[in-house]
Amino acid sequence: MLRVCFVLSVCLGGIVVVSSARVGSVSARVERSSVRVGLGSVRVGPASARFGRATADYRYGVIFDAGSSGTRVHVYRWDQKNLPTKTDDMTEMMVTGTQRVRPGISSYVTNPESVKSDLVVLLNSAASVVPMELQDSTPVYLKATAGMRLLEPDGVDAIFDQINDLFEDSSRNPFKFERGWAKVISGEEEGVFGWITVNFLTGRFDSNSDQETVGALDLGGASTQITFAPEGQIFAHLFPLSIAGNRYDLYTNSYLKFGLDQFRLQLYQLLYDQASDKNAYIDNPCDLAGFNVTEDIGENRIAKVKGTGNANQQCGALVRQLLVLDDTCYTEPCGIVGVYQPPVGGTVFYGTSALYFTSSGIGAIPRNGGFTSVDNIQARTDIFCNRPWADAEAELGDFAQNYCIGGHYITALLGDGYEIDTAADDKVFITNDINGVGTGWALGSMIYELYLLNIQFNVDVSASSHVTTTPIIVLLVAAFIQLV
Ligand SMILES: *[C@@H]1O[C@H](CO)[C@@H](O)[C@H](O)[C@H]1NC(C)=O
Repeated sequence: MLRVCFVLSVCLGGIVVVSSARVGSVSARVERSSVRVGLGSVRVGPASARFGRATADYRYGVIFDAGSSGTRVHVYRWDQKNLPTKTDDMTEMMVTGTQRVRPGISSYVTNPESVKSDLVVLLNSAASVVPMELQDSTPVYLKATAGMRLLEPDGVDAIFDQINDLFEDSSRNPFKFERGWAKVISGEEEGVFGWITVNFLTGRFDSNSDQETVGALDLGGASTQITFAPEGQIFAHLFPLSIAGNRYDLYTNSYLKFGLDQFRLQLYQLLYDQASDKNAYIDNPCDLAGFNVTEDIGENRIAKVKGTGNANQQCGALVRQLLVLDDTCYTEPCGIVGVYQPPVGGTVFYGTSALYFTSSGIGAIPRNGGFTSVDNIQARTDIFCNRPWADAEAELGDFAQNYCIGGHYITALLGDGYEIDTAADDKVFITNDINGVGTGWALGSMIYELYLLNIQFNVDVSASSHVTTTPIIVLLVAAFIQLV
């Protein structure tokens, strides 16, 4: 359901235009270099004229973000001499060709072998920006999120057998791959990777920074994550993280089935189960007047739903019912559905994904992101929910069907669930990118792998070149000492 962004590529007469947004520069800087394509080999000229460096000074990593509604490929580049600590240290390359495919890999549960053709397209896109001579030392990871967490284990295994098969086939995957690099990541990892992304992009890991870290809020199609460094102690859902010489005790939680698509499904199930006539159209105050849909909501239930608009705040009440705000709380205090969550205190949160699409769609934030109060989102939502569907669709497109329910859901989740001060206009910053680099979890996951999980890879690469591995080892030892 989430919006797809297509990247237009220019590929004429063997000349490919490659551009990349440098992470963290004041404005997205576009680099161009000519690439010659012939007989499957790609030669890349100096990647950056500005620094006049050879490609050998850089290392690359590829992350496949396999979400519930699609799979996106990211290619990152960093200076091989240093582990990245600040935005200037890392670049996301703009791939040529397809950057995102639909549907999500979980949709292939009935025909797993078909997942390969989608992923090959993305491997080829990634290969277009990684220099040929570095491809077989460039790691590729595929990390799947909530869409796959919803499947039965057998279905997950069948899909990953195909993915491993493809990634282990060096005639189709030019990159370095090992078993275990394609997997479903846990909700905790997803939340923490997103936290690393926004703190990295806002300069919090820079040794010159003395700013408090920011929290991360992600709203996907199938799950939603909250991750932050609380002021007090953490009694559950603790994720200790060592990065860039610092130790952070993070609270993180991922609510499966509380992504926006799954939340809508929950709402339809609730309305259907409450309806006296299951075959008639059921009124839904979270859909706009004039909107209707017939949907398979599982367990042999087909719901026919039509929107009424949000008369008398009925949508807000339904949404709060689904958040079970008064659920038994065993470890105090709790957020939603009786799950422990420490107080947010003065934390500033960065929100992304459907938080961004919804908030910008209803005009609560500018298109390029910004601060908003929760109360402002509520006010904009109330206005939006009173629009006729035909109007909203004509102006904003199909995704506008998510704005009324999304706006109510976000305000209830952030205000009543997480207990962020709803009047404060300096606590919630919502954006989809920072200086042209996506604020999703993929960048944070690359940085995390660099720091903690892939020592072997870094040492191997450095040993085969003329660069000493000392900085990496020193950093890792420093991180280790902090853990002990
Ligand atoms: C459902 O929507 C379609 C297309 O917008 C419309 O033609 C139809 O009359 C609607 N049905 C109901 C029951 O509202």
